[in-house]
Parts: sequence; C-alpha cells; structure tokens
Amino acid sequence: MLRDAGCSREVVEHCKTVTKLALKIAGKCNANIELVEAGALLHDIGRSRTHGVMHGVEGAKIGRKFGLPDEIVNIIERHLGGGISKEEATKIGLPEKDYTPVTLEEKIVCHADNLIAHNRKQTLSEAVKPYVKNDRDDIAEKIRKLHRELSEKCGVDLDEI
Ligand SMILES: [Fe+2]
Repeated sequence: MLRDAGCSREVVEHCKTVTKLALKIAGKCNANIELVEAGALLHDIGRSRTHGVMHGVEGAKIGRKFGLPDEIVNIIERHLGGGISKEEATKIGLPEKDYTPVTLEEKIVCHADNLIAHNRKQTLSEAVKPYVKNDRDDIAEKIRKLHRELSEKCGVDLDEI
C-alpha cells in the first residue's frame, strides 16, 4: 500500500523500523498487536504527498480512500509529535480537529515514531532535543508524558528496550 500510494524507499524503510519498535512496545502492554502493526506500517503513508505537518491528514485521506477501518485511519491521523490539540491545529493551518492520540495503539505508534530517527532508535532526550531547542517545550512535554505513560504500562523504561 505504501508503494501503491507513491512512498519513497526511505519512507517504507522508516515505517518498517517504527513497526518493529511499536510491536516490541505493544507486546509488553497487552495492546492489539495486529492494529499496532497495521497502523505503524501505514503511519507515514501521507508522506507520498507531503513531508510537512499535513502528512497525517493526507495519510488519513489516503487510508479512507483505501477503505481502511477508522482505528487505523486514526492512528495515521494522530501520530505527529506528541499529538496536536484542536487549538494548535487551527494555528498551524490543519483542519480544525483534535489530533491527540487517544487509544493505547494510537499512543504506541505515535511514540514509537518519536523514538525512531529515520531508521535508528533514539532516547527520549534525543527525541525532545529539537523541540526544546526551538522553544517548543509544550511539544517536548507531550512527548515526555507519552514516554512516561507507556513506560509505566510496559513496566520498563522505553529507553531500555
Ligand atoms: Fe510521520
């Protein structure tokens, strides 16, 4: 599906790496493994159209066109950073909507993506560094919160897996 949508080889490889980590996390906290796998593989399908902040919204559109279930479409749409509030979405030009990850599976894919830089696992502090540098402590804090919540659910700090 990624290739059919027109994703580059780099995006396909990134999606596979995120999926490996997402499945590791999912296995430790009783998440729906099949849903995490599908959502993680497809989370960046919108990068076939844009690499900008709209790639979540575009990806969700593609997912709906392909007839994917809402659970997967929502994973795609809510995977950016630590999630984007309705207010923030309006400010940055996204359709007015809350893009905060809600379900466990949405949170896992969102945060597995935060912990993968291209194809390499990075620590939480590496993941938040660019946001802190750009004075976006609000985003860094959302990512830290996701990390804490999922680490607690898994019974292990996600920096250690
Ligand atoms: Fe993405």
